[in-house]
Amino acid sequence: MKTLHVLFALLVSCSGYAQKFEGLAPTPPMGWNSWNTFGLDISEQLIKETAEALIVSGLRDAGYNYIVIDDGWEAMERDSLGNLVPDPNKFPSGMKALGVYLHSKGFKFGIHNCAGTKTCSGFPGGRGHEFQDARTYASFGVDYLKYDWCSHGTANAEETYKTMGDALFAAGRPIVYSLCEWGNNQPWLWGEKIAHLWRTTGDITDCYSCQDVYATGWKYILAKQAGLEKYAGPDHWNDPDMLEVGNRGLSTAESRAHFSLWAILAAPLMAGNDVRNMRDEIRAILTNKEVIAIDQDPLGKQGYRFMEHPSKEIWAKELSNGEWAVCFFNSGDETFQMRVNWAHLPFLKGTFHIRDLWQKKITGKTDRNFSADIPSHDVVLLKLSPTK
Ligand code: GLA
Repeated sequence: MKTLHVLFALLVSCSGYAQKFEGLAPTPPMGWNSWNTFGLDISEQLIKETAEALIVSGLRDAGYNYIVIDDGWEAMERDSLGNLVPDPNKFPSGMKALGVYLHSKGFKFGIHNCAGTKTCSGFPGGRGHEFQDARTYASFGVDYLKYDWCSHGTANAEETYKTMGDALFAAGRPIVYSLCEWGNNQPWLWGEKIAHLWRTTGDITDCYSCQDVYATGWKYILAKQAGLEKYAGPDHWNDPDMLEVGNRGLSTAESRAHFSLWAILAAPLMAGNDVRNMRDEIRAILTNKEVIAIDQDPLGKQGYRFMEHPSKEIWAKELSNGEWAVCFFNSGDETFQMRVNWAHLPFLKGTFHIRDLWQKKITGKTDRNFSADIPSHDVVLLKLSPTK
């Protein structure tokens, strides 16, 4: 029997098919990532303070359990044996010790590197070192790898990401594998067999509708998600990038709308703010359990854009138990007086109770028209539950 198992394992490993650890992301991963607020200005101290703040603020217990250290944790060179090493000034105790610390606080440990020869900030990338690096991550106690796409030269994306996926599998430690290929090569078409999630666009930044070469506001990132819903599901999620909720360039309404729509998208919810200094209303957004439950619904269906007009959109997400989430988004600059005749939403079969997830109250049933004023760049997010 044992020989048969070994033979089978050999056949699988020689077959050329990608291998990934199944069951690591039945719902979209949640956590915190250092990049959006801190960039390269990271350290062991910051990560420990963040872990503490995630606990005290209730974010960890609301589900944010991955702490992902993005670009900038490494020393500029590998060691003499070719191993990746952390910057000794930023992480004096080393990554293994940090992993032990994070695990002891109830977190999972995420780290960043790049499929190219260098990360986007010029630190050593993984190309040609995949199997060695995967063993290094396993030895650090890493649970999540975000793998970027700078300095990739002429490399083929699918092949390159598959090599790292195989390396992680071979290293033997279950690690969530998060592709950060920016959607350049349509990773939703090939990512499922290799990874647990993949970025669908370039970088987000903390504004509603700004646009430059490297980063855009969430309005444009949202628009690019329409139509991708069929590619997502348990263990294979579209990733429209990390949250900017609470960051300087967004109003509170824009943070609330961003969070609501990311929940509709079944997006990974990776907070990207300084959780050590968080206003109460931002904490209330990030810890709204009912909104998180929309994102984390076990059916695992990404929502879709049902309707789009120049200044308003309706997004809908099918949930388990016959429930639906519907998000009315005012993308315009004026308050929008919304009036909904539920008969115009044909995916709703029967009558539903309506619960407003930001007002946290039941607001009637779908047998009557619904009206609400939606301020500019804000949303009304409703959960609809069958009346019987
Ligand atoms: C790329 C990624 C970002 C971040 C930076 C780090 O731009 O898309 O999310 O990881 O690299 O350099």
